[in-house]
Amino acid sequence: MKVLVVGGGGREHALAWKIARDSRRPQIFCAPGNAGTAALGTNVPIAADDVAGLLEWARGNRPDLTVVGPEAPLCAGLADAFDAEGLRVFGPGREGARIEGSKVFAKEVMFGAGVPTAAAEVFDDVDSALRYVRRRGAPLVVKADGLAAGKGVSVCATVEEAERAVRACMVDRVFGDAGNRILVEERLYGEETSILALVDGEHVVLLASSQDHKRAYDGDRGPNTGGMGAYSPATVVEERALKDIRERILVPVIRELARRNVVYRGVLYAGLMITERGPRVLEFNCRFGDPETQAILPRWQGDILAALEACLDGTLSDGMVQWSQSHCVCVVLASGGYPGPYAKGKEIRGLDAAGQMADVMIFHAGTRVEGTKVVTAGGRVVGVTALGRTLPAAVDRAYEAVRRISFEGMFYRRDIAYRALNGAGR
Ligand code: AMP
Ligand code: GLY
Repeated sequence: MKVLVVGGGGREHALAWKIARDSRRPQIFCAPGNAGTAALGTNVPIAADDVAGLLEWARGNRPDLTVVGPEAPLCAGLADAFDAEGLRVFGPGREGARIEGSKVFAKEVMFGAGVPTAAAEVFDDVDSALRYVRRRGAPLVVKADGLAAGKGVSVCATVEEAERAVRACMVDRVFGDAGNRILVEERLYGEETSILALVDGEHVVLLASSQDHKRAYDGDRGPNTGGMGAYSPATVVEERALKDIRERILVPVIRELARRNVVYRGVLYAGLMITERGPRVLEFNCRFGDPETQAILPRWQGDILAALEACLDGTLSDGMVQWSQSHCVCVVLASGGYPGPYAKGKEIRGLDAAGQMADVMIFHAGTRVEGTKVVTAGGRVVGVTALGRTLPAAVDRAYEAVRRISFEGMFYRRDIAYRALNGAGR
């Protein structure tokens, strides 16, 4: 069996790692992959968002399954193009991917489905948006409608800040067409968590809960990043709340999409704020989270391919997805300067010593093989991931592994999972 994983980050290394361990022993291809995926199979030098290039490769090489990591190719219609060629692909089609690709569409679906989320208004001209901001008053959240590499959201404490955010989108066009329309929404307070589910068009099976750490520095300070670490399970959501999240949020959204003739297959990722009045949706993503996936997949018991394929066949059931009782922690090692400009090509030392530790997985993100060395090639470089019987044990093991790795300019957060360790949300 041949499996193509599309993408080249920590999420894709974790997916390739889990798929490679499947009892069917598939042959793994990863496009474009990184130094970590190269050790599991074959890297294919095609960019993750080059849908035409990937399709051409797949026509020639006929993978039995393609698993798509990032949102860009899904929003660009990769799944539709592969489907049309009779190639099996895990991930929603272009219409379903709009749940992430358009925040306005996502809000319409949520309102249509009666899902709890922040109140919001949509604007496509700057004057009405500014009038609304002044009338409503701060705090407010301003969101560009389209994909903006995770930078399209401004949480604004004052009216002036909100006005600036509106102008940045609609006058200065800093997000290009993605900011032609904006949402101005109510600010919510609470703790954030990521709930991912597998979906086969109808059935919804939750994956283990997790919490991401989006800010660059300890104590949730500094600029927003793609994610500096994650842990699973997230103690802020209790088991019975998960059932509620499934029934009141995920299932209604899938039904609302179906009502709009969109059959959603793949991962539906709900970014939630756990407020005093219960969970509220901040955003949906149409894919696995990164780094969340690195903290979730090591806890998955047994094979993954059958569950992914069941999503395509409409035969997904709860029994296909089982979790270990262990805790998992992923600490991202980043290049100095990230999420701003950073250097590349720095030799990474100690990867083998860290990877040899029991219950430790080193998931590569921005890495590349150069001769006999592995060097940095991105902002997020590796996700150092450890399992433990308890959360403190997993945290200790992960940081012990971190201490074995070094490269010039390396930095990381020293407080991954601190909210749960401090008992917040329990
Ligand atoms: P999003 O890209 O929609 O997930 O937004 C990025 C981040 O902005 C989220 O992870 C939250 O921290 C924050 N955010 C988004 N919407 C809201 C909201 N309505 N209230 C407070 N914070 C928000
Ligand atoms: N970790 C956030 C995301 O994958 O969108």
